[in-house]
Amino acid sequence: MIAASVLSADFAQMGAEARSALEAGADLLHFDVMDGHFVENLTMGSSMCRSLRRTLPEAFFDVHLMVTDPAKFVDSFAEAGANHITFHVEAVPDPIALAVTIHSAGMTAGLAINPPTGVSRLMDFVEHVDLVLVMSVNPGFAGQDFMPAVLQKAQEIRPLLRADQRLEIDGGINAQRAPAARDAGCDILVAASAIFNAADYAAAITTLRSPGGILTGRR
Ligand code: DX5
Ligand code: ZN
Repeated sequence: MIAASVLSADFAQMGAEARSALEAGADLLHFDVMDGHFVENLTMGSSMCRSLRRTLPEAFFDVHLMVTDPAKFVDSFAEAGANHITFHVEAVPDPIALAVTIHSAGMTAGLAINPPTGVSRLMDFVEHVDLVLVMSVNPGFAGQDFMPAVLQKAQEIRPLLRADQRLEIDGGINAQRAPAARDAGCDILVAASAIFNAADYAAAITTLRSPGGILTGRR
């Protein structure tokens, strides 16, 4: 699946941008929520979800919290119409408790891991979440270069997951990188700049899905 991160959309046209990405074939809308503290950037809050939910009642809203205290925001995102919340293992002392809180609020829960953090950090928590998100850049900004070393981590995490759990990868995903991410076992690819900086969103999404990426035809 392809998750279109609205971080690279034109914020002045957000409703139209989100709709265009979905019509172009994106399966999920990905919301990068940054607090200027856990990461060096400030982006959006639950009001972005609330407004888009009014105009896109059926879309799946995949919220990625890059904040120091994710528990504080669960209720407001649930009320705003989020379907899913991913939080960072680096941010939370008790990931199991937070996953329970997210589930109780009617959403699915994901656990994200930053590039420098080892897979062992996730081990005790994986069975309690619906998704693991492997960061392939240090979070904070769209448009950064993919870090190939994290593919190894994805390969290690995949066998830990049940068939009903998803493995998402986020950061620097483009046509060149998508095939390797899929080969490493990732089943949701997040892309911001590769979609919203493209002239043709549908063509960009089709390329992300195609077996050889830009090398279509070679395999
Ligand atoms: C990175 C965010 C990503 C980001 C991806 O901090 O979590 O979701 O928007 O942007 P691209 O696809 O441009 O690397
Ligand atoms: Zn993200």
